[in-house]
Parts: sequence; C-alpha cells; structure tokens
Amino acid sequence: MQKVLITSALPYANGILHFGHMAGAYLPADIAARYQRMKGRDVHYVSGSDEYGVAITLSAELAGRTPKEQAELFHKANLDLFLKLNFSFDHYSRTTWEGHQEPVQQFFLELLNNGWIEPKITEQLYSETEMRFLADRYVVGTCPKCGYAEARGDECPSCGSSFDALDLKNPRSKITGSPLVKKETKHWFLLLDKFKPKLQAWLETKKHWKPNVLHFAQEYIEGLKPRSITRDMSWGIPVPLEEAEGKVLYVWFDAPIGYMTASMEWSKKIGRPERWKDYWLDPNVKLIHFIGKDNIPFHAVTFPAMVMGQNLPLKLVDELPANEFLNLEGKKFSKSEGWSIDLSDFLTRYTADQIRYGLAAMAPETADAEFTFKEFQNRCNSELVGKFGNFIHRTLSFLQANFQGVTPPQGNLDEDDKNFISDLKKYFVEAEEAYETFRLRKVVQVLMEISQRANVYFDHKKPWALKKDPSKKEELETTLYLCIQAIQLLAVVASPLIPETSSKIFSFLGIESLKWDDAFAPLHHRPLPSPTTLFRKIEDEEIEKEIQNLHKLSQKHQMQESTQEQTFLPLKPEISIDDVDRLDLRVAQIISAERVPKSKKLLKLQVDLGFEKRQIVAGIGHAIDPDTLPGKRVVIIANLKPATLMGVESQGMILAGGIDTLEIPSLTLLPPGLPVK
Ligand code: MF3
Ligand code: ZN
Repeated sequence: MQKVLITSALPYANGILHFGHMAGAYLPADIAARYQRMKGRDVHYVSGSDEYGVAITLSAELAGRTPKEQAELFHKANLDLFLKLNFSFDHYSRTTWEGHQEPVQQFFLELLNNGWIEPKITEQLYSETEMRFLADRYVVGTCPKCGYAEARGDECPSCGSSFDALDLKNPRSKITGSPLVKKETKHWFLLLDKFKPKLQAWLETKKHWKPNVLHFAQEYIEGLKPRSITRDMSWGIPVPLEEAEGKVLYVWFDAPIGYMTASMEWSKKIGRPERWKDYWLDPNVKLIHFIGKDNIPFHAVTFPAMVMGQNLPLKLVDELPANEFLNLEGKKFSKSEGWSIDLSDFLTRYTADQIRYGLAAMAPETADAEFTFKEFQNRCNSELVGKFGNFIHRTLSFLQANFQGVTPPQGNLDEDDKNFISDLKKYFVEAEEAYETFRLRKVVQVLMEISQRANVYFDHKKPWALKKDPSKKEELETTLYLCIQAIQLLAVVASPLIPETSSKIFSFLGIESLKWDDAFAPLHHRPLPSPTTLFRKIEDEEIEKEIQNLHKLSQKHQMQESTQEQTFLPLKPEISIDDVDRLDLRVAQIISAERVPKSKKLLKLQVDLGFEKRQIVAGIGHAIDPDTLPGKRVVIIANLKPATLMGVESQGMILAGGIDTLEIPSLTLLPPGLPVK
C-alpha cells in the first residue's frame, strides 16, 4: 500500500493562526490527508507547535510572560482552532515535549562527526545596553538583498530571503532600538556550501515542483555559505557539547526535526514505539511538506541538507507544495495593525465548512491572493447554497414527496442520461487530478461544475412533468436514480474539503461514507431519511458588519501608541446579562488547601459557604502558594455541575481573572475581615 507522510509547517506558538496561515500551510494539508485516506493509502499526518527560538522569547518578553507560558498559551489556542476547523491530524505535537531533545542533539552530533559542522570563533551582534548577544528576530535592519528597512535578523518578510543577522545593514535591537556592535563568540556552523553538488543533483529529480519553489531553491543553493546553527541564549535545545555551555541550537535546526519527533511521540502514544520508522525510514513513502512560501529555503535546502548528513536513511521531501500569501481586503494580514480576522470568533458565526470552502476557493496557489468578505459571502451563497445545496435538496425532497424516500431502480438510459453520466465521470477524473496535485481552487471549481451540470440535467428532464405521465414512469425513475448517483458523487468529491457537510449528505443517502474509488457504487433501494438544510444563507447585513468591524479594529490599533506587536488572547464572544445571571456567585472562606499529587496546577481546597462546606479543585497552584490560602475569602461559582479532576471531586469553581496565562484568583480582591455567615 502506498504510504504518505504529510506535514504542515510547525506554527510558532507565539500568536494565533489567522486565515492567511490556514490557507497556506494548513488547510491544504488536511484536505490532502483526507483525500489520501479516502484513496485507501496509509496516511500519517503530523504537525505541532514550534516553541523554541526567538520568535517565542521575543513575543513573550513583549507580553510580559515567560517563554514557557507564552508557548503553553498559544499551543492550546492554535490546537483549539485546528479542532474547530475539523483538522484530522494523526498527531499534533510540540517541540518542548521531552522526547524532542535527544533526537535533535543526535542529529547535531551526527552532522558534526560526519564533518558537516565546524566550530568557529565569530563576531555576533551584541547589545551593550542590554548586555547580551542578540540574534534573529531580536535584530532589525535593512535587508541586504532588497533594501527593505524592517528586515528581521534571519529573514526578510519583503523578499523572502533568509540570511545571517550579520548580513543586515544598520542592525539595531528590536527591544530597545539601540544600535548593535560586533563581538566575538564561538559558534557551530553547518557547512551548507559543501552540500551544494548533492543538493543540486537531488533537485534535478524535482522538476515537477511549482516553478516558484524550484527557482527559489535553485537560486538559493547557488549562494550557499556555512551558516551558524547555535545561539547564545538559554531557551532552546542545549548544544550537546561540554564546551558549548549556555548555548542552544538555532530554532530552524530543531524545528524541522520536530516533524519526525512528532511521529515518535505519536508512536509512543499508540503503544508502538517503533512505528514512526515505517514512515520516516522507508524510501517508498511519499513525504509532502505543506508550507507557506516564506519557509521554502528551509524545506527545499537546509533541512534536506541536514537529512543528507545523517547516517540513518531518513526520508527527503518528495513534494513541496508551498503556497503564496493570502491578503485580507486589499492589505496584508497584520496583527499589529489590527488588520486581521479572529478565526475563533469568526467560527461562532460561520461553520467550519463554510470557512474551509471559502479559503480553498480563494487559496493563494500560484500568486498572492485575497480574502474578501464579499467573495466569502458570494461563494457560500451562490455556490454552496445556490448550486450544491440546491441540487441535493431538490432531488431528495422530490424523492420524499414522490417515492416515499425510496431510491427507484435505474431503467434504460437515453442519450441525455448517457451524456450526463459521461460528464460526471469526466469531472470525477478532473477532481482526482486536482486533489493529487494539491490544487484546491480546481477542486472547488469541479465541485461546482458537477452541481451545475446536475442542476441542468434535472431542469432538462423535468421530473415534475414526467411524474404526471404514467408512460414516463421508467424515465422518471432513471432520472431520479442518476440524480441521487450525482449526489453520491458530490459527497465523495466534497468530503476532503467540507467533511462535516459530506457526512451529512452520506447520512441522507443512508450510508456512513465511501472510499474515493466507490463514488459510482450502485445505490441501495431502501428508504432515505428526509434531508435537512446543509448551508444557511449569509445576509448582506452580516457581511457589512464584518467589514465595519475590521475597519473599526484597525482604527483602534492606529490610535494606540504602541507599535510593539504584543500578543494577547482575543476576547471570547460577547455574552448577555442573562448568561451572567445563570451563575450563582457566593463568597466562601478557605479552610484548608493542599496540592493534588502529581499535578503542577491543581490545588484541593476545603471551603465554607456559611450554609455548607465544599471541596473545590482549582487550577491555581502554579500562581499561588497553598499555605497562604487558609482564612482567605474567595468568590466561587456555587451552581457549577460537580466534576472530577485527576480523581478528585470538585464542587464549584473559584473565580480567577487573568493577565492571560497568569491567573489572579479573586481572593486578592476581597478584604480580609468580611464575615462569611
Ligand atoms: N515556525 C515556523 C514558521 O512559522 C515554521 C517551522 S516549520 C519547521 O515560520 F519545519 F521548522 F517545522
Ligand atoms: Zn529583502
């Protein structure tokens, strides 16, 4: 069986993913994984949070959190988004899990022992005001390639080049803005230039890659130089050498290995610790990395070079369908300028499938593309409701009204029927090709062509007229049969793209699901359930409001002085006073507090409400010392359904507010003397 290993770029756990990311490196991967599984292939699909590196420490510093808190917060938030969008990862890992370190250090040592890494005393950028070396995103300056003034220390967001911070012109500190000086320190360099012939020969076998990916990689290889893969900082994987105390591996060294360690973690989880090898060490596996275009150099050149320098026959990437950027309403997505859509909020108003469909329809596949609310509305209304949903609904309602919901037999086929079937088969082949080559826009297009063609057939056959003429019974039955066949085809073709909707359609057909190649399987003749609505229509006013909100948000950001890109969790959707009214809030006095064994956060509290005593388990143990609690008063939610946390029953919840992760229990607010009774 063909084995397929699918990865999505590990997102930095320093902010929430937005539409642009989803359309670039994530949704296409999930769709591919779902399609490949339907083809009956052995699919392994992983991703996870990229939690080391200065992207994390810098944003944590700006937000007043520790790197660990920062990563924890956004790992959860992003995973939550993926789940809401129905992503089907086999595993979603994080680079701070304990099993990641050893394989990364092993990778380093093998490269070193095989002569691909050399130490060198070098000059690095040093901040005299901050008394530390600064690298990567801590450094801003002018791009040596294109002259963009706000380039980061390791890559240029404007032209996509990747380089060393020392190459920047006018380097300064991102934190203080102060100029940086060069100072000597020892670092280890990956001798990328030595891989040049190997890389070039290997790329010769990748002529089918998208031209932008291939050209970028070829050009990048031309200019390869040794590149420092160690850093003077403490947040990261320690360099496994005694003489390298206090130094860690560069995040772009450890992160791509995270794909493999994600599989290792998954193997452990399923109780088959060697299983990852079936995907990573088998040359017959097809490895597909889904990424955004800013990640091309690392996936087309650097990581492959690192893999080439290993002793184990690790998989090299086979397909690299890098996407371009998605803009929003005419401008780049920008958190700091408030030009963004909060996806989890958006998901309270639109379904995962509407969003998946909209993103696929506007996917930045061959050029930068644009997400606009109007187009989103139009795609959802005129395509999903108007063509796709409409055909399914009119056919199945007709079946309910005239055949008691039982699929009729297929009779003799006339010319129209034969043309219809042959068109459906042609579209099916086109859809398959589109999925095989990761072209989501094409998938969307074919799905609509099928819907459109089916509507034309229905209109042309006029079943409402046929049913009035008893001599046309067989023609009517055949028409209905073929229309239901078309619905089955739609459900199969739509399944990777809009999986929730597709399962609904399968349930309308009285089946659970189908494999890709069974799209034309003969239909059963049992009664089908009545269909329900698949998609709701999006009103103009809703879209107007979305556009206004976006502009309001960006104005608000412009008025705020700070240009620092702080990352806060977005607020949850608005609630009404009635929602609040359902909470029964009471003051309680803490009698005793102890830690729940084996838990870092949980405390077991006995509290007195005046009229009764309760036991409450609270997740505040990381923020507060239990010994300071007895005697204090807190506000609790007294009518919360009891729950068991790590085996301990909790009969209520202590209110705690947060500066994001840092929870401040309400007890700090209550004056000490207040009587409870
Ligand atoms: N965290 C990186 C980014 O968001 C992507 C890392 S991909 C990996 O740009 F290959 F390193 F995992
Ligand atoms: Zn540039």
